[in-house]
Amino acid sequence: MSQISNESTTQSTRESRNTQSSRGPLLKETPKHPHEIQAFNTISRVPIGLNETVRADSVAALNQILVDTMTLRDLYKKHHWQTSGVTFYQLHLLYDKHHLEQLELVDKVAERVQTLGGIAVAMSADIAEMTLIPRAPRGRENVPAQLTRTLEAHEMLLQRARSMAKRAAELGDDGTNDLLVSDIIRTNEMQVWFLAEHLEDGTRTKSL
Ligand SMILES: [Fe+2]
Repeated sequence: MSQISNESTTQSTRESRNTQSSRGPLLKETPKHPHEIQAFNTISRVPIGLNETVRADSVAALNQILVDTMTLRDLYKKHHWQTSGVTFYQLHLLYDKHHLEQLELVDKVAERVQTLGGIAVAMSADIAEMTLIPRAPRGRENVPAQLTRTLEAHEMLLQRARSMAKRAAELGDDGTNDLLVSDIIRTNEMQVWFLAEHLEDGTRTKSL
């Protein structure tokens, strides 16, 4: 293949990516793979008594919760490894406990997406593009910064989960509502309690 042809292919790929990125994170798609049997952002037929519009609505909401939960899961592992100071041992253990609980939530949410006929986001590059949780630095943060960053991530996720749960209930998707309330909201609220108690009065940031 000539160099001109290669350059032209690269240019068209770049233009295609630029067009996709302007549509928003949920519509950013990877190039179609020849063996792909269902495209992302499509819904397959599932006979569970919920119409396609409702299932598509829940899938989009759950995929956002999914990528934010996976980000929170990874944030806990980062803190598990990098924590320091006099509370090292207890936080090292607590962060890992919360990491495992978030890991269980990831599987529940992903499998709910598939149950509804959608495609669960799975790969780290897609998670990084779609998550609404601010990116953490690669470097090591002190304990108050670790706690504050994690609490803020929980709060953002909880606010979204509550409005999504309400919408799922209104649309008649009781299974999604139950998952969001019984698993996502209750687990995240409990984890917030355990983290927030580590911050003495006056050390919390105003945004909390
Ligand atoms: Fe470990």
